[in-house]
Amino acid sequence: MSDAVCPAGYHGFEPFDMNNPFPSYEELRKEQPVMFDDRVGYYVVTRYDDVKSVFENWQTFSSENAQAPVRPISAAAKKVMDDGGFTAYSGLSARIPPEHTRIRAVASKAFTPRRYKVLEPFIRDNTNIMIGEMLAKGDAGGDILADIAYELPAITILTLLGVPVEKIPEVKAWATSRAVITWGELTDEEQIPHAHNLVKYWSFCQELVANAHANPGDNLVSDMVALQQAGDEISDHEIASVLYSMLFAGHETTTTLISNAVRVLLQHRVAYEALVADPEKIPGAIDEVLRYSPSIVAWRRKAVQDGEIGGVKIPKGSEILLVMGSANRDENVFDQPDAFNIDRENSRNHLAFGYGIHYCLGNMLAKLQAKVALEEITKNVPSLRLKPETEIKFGENLSFRVPTAVPVEWN
Ligand code: HEM
Repeated sequence: MSDAVCPAGYHGFEPFDMNNPFPSYEELRKEQPVMFDDRVGYYVVTRYDDVKSVFENWQTFSSENAQAPVRPISAAAKKVMDDGGFTAYSGLSARIPPEHTRIRAVASKAFTPRRYKVLEPFIRDNTNIMIGEMLAKGDAGGDILADIAYELPAITILTLLGVPVEKIPEVKAWATSRAVITWGELTDEEQIPHAHNLVKYWSFCQELVANAHANPGDNLVSDMVALQQAGDEISDHEIASVLYSMLFAGHETTTTLISNAVRVLLQHRVAYEALVADPEKIPGAIDEVLRYSPSIVAWRRKAVQDGEIGGVKIPKGSEILLVMGSANRDENVFDQPDAFNIDRENSRNHLAFGYGIHYCLGNMLAKLQAKVALEEITKNVPSLRLKPETEIKFGENLSFRVPTAVPVEWN
């Protein structure tokens, strides 16, 4: 075993720069696959087997830091949150067994494929309305992110939770605040408006639970309350926390998946045309997008006892950054990993949804929405292409790799 140090540079690795992190990942995989990065204070893990084994070993590598702010919350922002009664932290992803096991069991009983598969025609109708509105812009062209991917998953998750779609702008703003206050690099001053948003966001989650007690409806919140009333062990605060998760995880990452799917397919025109000709290939293409360009490129863990990753000693208390964006391009697992290949046989082995006890609860809903969106886009706009000479940029973030826009045009 060796101690991981990083004496000579960081191989171009810039933890918050999401524009094109893949060359630096490759260098790290080859030269320092487990590296301590003292700029962020994390052990950065880049090889597939190592990332997967850390996800699997939750007894040593706990997820308790998964939602911790990367940069400390300033005193002024904390005061806003304390004064506003903000007591949320995580619904599931940063909880650990046995609490995690208990809450996940209840959330899984409510969040069943039966609950969301019936929404497929609704998702399809919404997609077609949005495509129609985009096409109406004619020669001006459109933006897949703003015109389709932004709202589509938000409408779905809000409908599942029984929340009116008029709430979308607010929910989206709250989710952005959560993403930047937790995984971004804000100054103390910049944190304050986002702190106000988190207070409103958490109050809303608590109101949803209170309303489900007072007026039960046909939705996921009422399902969880009904399970509680039937004897499942889950408190109102815990149900509100699961909603706090879903009103964020339930749309942001799917917005990114749909945006990335169209972006990457259009950058590989042959692949886009293959889907136009044969929509049966769409599910495989979605897994390849998740492998090649995952919505979340890195996720955190904390060593709660001394451990070891890839032969490197990891002392108790260490924080770890698992780089799934790199694991998904590991040449020991994926042949020609930098090639985008919708016929790849093992794309599904990507780690874009994590692995183990915290494996993404919404993975099937995310894939269902991406499938419907791609089916309708390839069918209705076969001539779709990226606007020439527009460079697609990605927002700065430690974990979420999100394009700022995907400008498109058509014949
Ligand atoms: C492309 C879309 C999505 C991606 C890339 C994604 C990714 C992830 C990742 C990486 C994790 C952490 C796994 C770990 O720590 O091992 C996770 C957990 C989670 N995701 Fe997703 N997710 C997506 C969509 C969704 C949707 C649509 C929902 C649902 C409503 C959802 C709900 C959750 C929840 C509740 C957890 C926590 C699970 C737990 O800790 O037990 N996600 N997701």
